[in-house]
Amino acid sequence: MRIRIVRGPMLSMPAQAAFSRGAPVNETSLSQLPLATKSMIVLLSDDPSRSSELAKAMRRVNARFVIAPFGSEPCRIDKSRRVRAIVSDVSLNAADKVEWIRDRLDERWAKSLPYYCLLDQDTSREHLQANALGATKAIAPQRGVQELESALLALIRTPPAPSALLQADDAFFSIFKAARGGKDVSPAMVSSCSSFIETALRDLGVRAMLEMIWRFDDATHQHCMLVAGLAAAFSMSLGFRSVDAQRLTDAALLHDVGKSRIPIEILNKPDRLTDEERATMNAHPVIGFEMLQGQGHADEVLAVVRSHHEALDGSGYPDRLPAARIPDLVRLVTVCDIFAALIERRPYKKPFGGDEAYGILCGMAGKVDLALAQAFRPIAMEAAVHARETA
Ligand SMILES: [Fe+2]
Ligand SMILES: [Fe+2]
Repeated sequence: MRIRIVRGPMLSMPAQAAFSRGAPVNETSLSQLPLATKSMIVLLSDDPSRSSELAKAMRRVNARFVIAPFGSEPCRIDKSRRVRAIVSDVSLNAADKVEWIRDRLDERWAKSLPYYCLLDQDTSREHLQANALGATKAIAPQRGVQELESALLALIRTPPAPSALLQADDAFFSIFKAARGGKDVSPAMVSSCSSFIETALRDLGVRAMLEMIWRFDDATHQHCMLVAGLAAAFSMSLGFRSVDAQRLTDAALLHDVGKSRIPIEILNKPDRLTDEERATMNAHPVIGFEMLQGQGHADEVLAVVRSHHEALDGSGYPDRLPAARIPDLVRLVTVCDIFAALIERRPYKKPFGGDEAYGILCGMAGKVDLALAQAFRPIAMEAAVHARETA
């Protein structure tokens, strides 16, 4: 039992039949659902009766709950069906069930959706497991219904991400999938993703776009989109020509592509990394650089992938470059990268508020280009409002 139903009536008829907005479904009926006029929440379940009760208890959430029973695969859902979140109501104590959840979360429709993981027990082991699955939020059993209901209510009240950003999200997913699978990442794939980000930025403005990106659940994915969004806004604010703006956004999108080859346990580790894990993680710039060589990317973009963790005082990595060998495009992405990392939630730290993050960035004079950090101020202030609201 993953969750204690603390309120809401028990069902007066067999639970599955009483699942009023649609009976628990299998993989076939998931794909045959009509286009939803309201948001949908997919409940991964190893006990559909219990999960039906859970859905019923969350009656304030104006959404259609659809149950995917353990063992059903694949769940063919396209994004036009307005799925807004995934909830797993599945025991994390059985390896085959965890694997099943992971497979469902890896499906195309599920990428970038918030994922709420209901725990059996409020133990660090289960929190670790949820984190390794990339959960947006792990929900302990004692406050399960209330916490899940609040999270879903907040989600449903937020309008869905507009299409340009969803297209950017799709394009970015393809880039990382190709990189992870050892396939080429073509410059055309990257520039198409950048174009969608720029369109989204024009449509939404910095603040709303960041708010949308904040809802992408995978931390690396969210980070790269955030850095790219900040870079696109920065280039606009600096008045870059479109070719230069595109190059900056391309570089920002790709800067951490080497992380696609870093083990997920290290990428999503909820604690600080050991020295050995840190060494593995710090290999990502060189991995990314070597991965993209010979695929037609501009040298400046490759330099960003390799050198975005260099510091002007020569203390960075992987090459401990002196300032004179750190190009402008690298410096621009580094400013966006550091600011993004500061305002993001990480498993081991709370996000800094935007004002505080900007203060820390400017306090890194000697390591980052202070003139660029100062020029970044308008973007940071826009993001600051956003970070304060979401902290
Ligand atoms: Fe990086
Ligand atoms: Fe980064």
